[in-house]
Amino acid sequence: MKVKVCFNLNGVPTEILVNPEMTLLEALRDIIGLTSPKCGCNHGDCGSCTVMLDGKAVKSCTVLAATVSGKCVVTLDGITPATGLTPIQQAFLEEGAPQCGYCTPGMVMAATAFLEKNPNPTMAEIKEGLSGNLCRCGGYDKYAKAVKDVADGKYGPVSERSE
Ligand code: FES
Ligand code: FES
Repeated sequence: MKVKVCFNLNGVPTEILVNPEMTLLEALRDIIGLTSPKCGCNHGDCGSCTVMLDGKAVKSCTVLAATVSGKCVVTLDGITPATGLTPIQQAFLEEGAPQCGYCTPGMVMAATAFLEKNPNPTMAEIKEGLSGNLCRCGGYDKYAKAVKDVADGKYGPVSERSE
């Protein structure tokens, strides 16, 4: 039996029917067709599927789609401006952090949620904050430096950072 799920996806009221065991990652990719959350491990280990659920970064492969009724889900698609990039995306690009790019959407979501909660982090805090997101290309230092640059205002003051 399918379960009806009504939630807000990237600012849009959304209604889908899912199998009770379907994960949010599967629902986003296979039902809705949003492929920015990537399936790396499908076991909560790699972070490539990271999205925001009510403002908090979560690994969408560990969340049952049926549990997000009434909640707000934001994917990379929901924070990327129609033209241009967010400061975090811009910083990742300028730092040359993405290599294959498979981890990058999850990194963007994790970094965005992290900076919203901790706008003036130390490098150690950034590395801790991104520690749930694995990068098989080994771009950790570049990702962390990019987040520090954003936090330090290299991409504009906090109040002017757009999403
Ligand atoms: S695919 Fe979800 S944590 Fe790896
Ligand atoms: S850039 Fe390749 S996995 Fe991170």
